[in-house]
Amino acid sequence: MHKDKGQGLCILIRILIWDIPDFFVAIGEKGRQTQEMDGVILGQVQQAIYSSTKAAVKGPRIKKFSIYRWNPATPEVKPHLQHFEVDLTCCGQMVLDALMKIKNECDGSLTFRRSCREGICGSCGMNINGRNQLACLSFIDQNLKKPTIIYPLPHMYVIKDLVVDMNHFFKQYAYIEPWLMRKEDEQTYCGIQYLQSQRDAKKMENLYECILCACCSTSCPSYWWNGTKFLGPAALLHAYRWIIDSRDEYSEHRLRRINDSYSVFRCHTIMNCTVACPKHLNPGKAIAEIKKLLVGLSKKEEADMPPAKLRKE
Ligand code: SF4
Ligand code: F3S
Ligand code: FES
Repeated sequence: MHKDKGQGLCILIRILIWDIPDFFVAIGEKGRQTQEMDGVILGQVQQAIYSSTKAAVKGPRIKKFSIYRWNPATPEVKPHLQHFEVDLTCCGQMVLDALMKIKNECDGSLTFRRSCREGICGSCGMNINGRNQLACLSFIDQNLKKPTIIYPLPHMYVIKDLVVDMNHFFKQYAYIEPWLMRKEDEQTYCGIQYLQSQRDAKKMENLYECILCACCSTSCPSYWWNGTKFLGPAALLHAYRWIIDSRDEYSEHRLRRINDSYSVFRCHTIMNCTVACPKHLNPGKAIAEIKKLLVGLSKKEEADMPPAKLRKE
């Protein structure tokens, strides 16, 4: 056996026998709080599988990608899956890499959104093998027998191919008024910072990291059926982030605006949103906290320190 090939296989066997069971045990033992770490471990395992497979196999490794196509310029052509073959030996390891390769080398008309290619901009959300994910953070499944199937985010109006209309989603985000509101007039607080204790700042952790990719909202069955009136997990996660901000003086106003039978209460705790979130946030929990505030089971705490103003010199 060729030396490189032998080494690659050894690494692969070591991962399969030794590292993967550890990984699953780790997942079982840890809770939601450590899910981010699990994501890192999963990434490392997938990376190792990718590298060892690459080292072990010589020659082309052809993988099939089936991608949803629809072009408004040719309405007579019905939406369909188009199949592409990609040689994984000369392609990056993420689904976004494969999409870029297909667009650059096979079909320039393939349309999708992307920008940062590192899970920051939130633009590459799509449905990959049945799960809403970011294409730039999703490893290509190295099983060559199974095609990777890519659809746009579900229950959204399609503009072209994998690009969906995000207007309604962003209108809902705007509805929750995602900015700091104070009772002083604008002139008074222009150019001023407000103090916040570390404990108060911590309350916003796992909320402000949301990148508005819409993977959560578009995986929620309740949002599918009531999307015009139910704000959906992404907007509500942001609503909660501003409601509990110790510097914000409009929490009651914010709660009043969403206190009806649809905006929040159409969440039936299905939790698809939390499972789907590629940033490992927990929109389901944020919504539960809002419900508690709305029905009077909890109350926003007083700020640890008065948000005294720090005037910029
Ligand atoms: Fe995306 Fe997660 Fe934010 Fe939802 S909560 S929009 S899934 S980052
Ligand atoms: Fe939907 Fe998440 Fe609630 S999936 S029903 S918003 S917990
Ligand atoms: Fe920015 Fe994927 S390209 S999140």
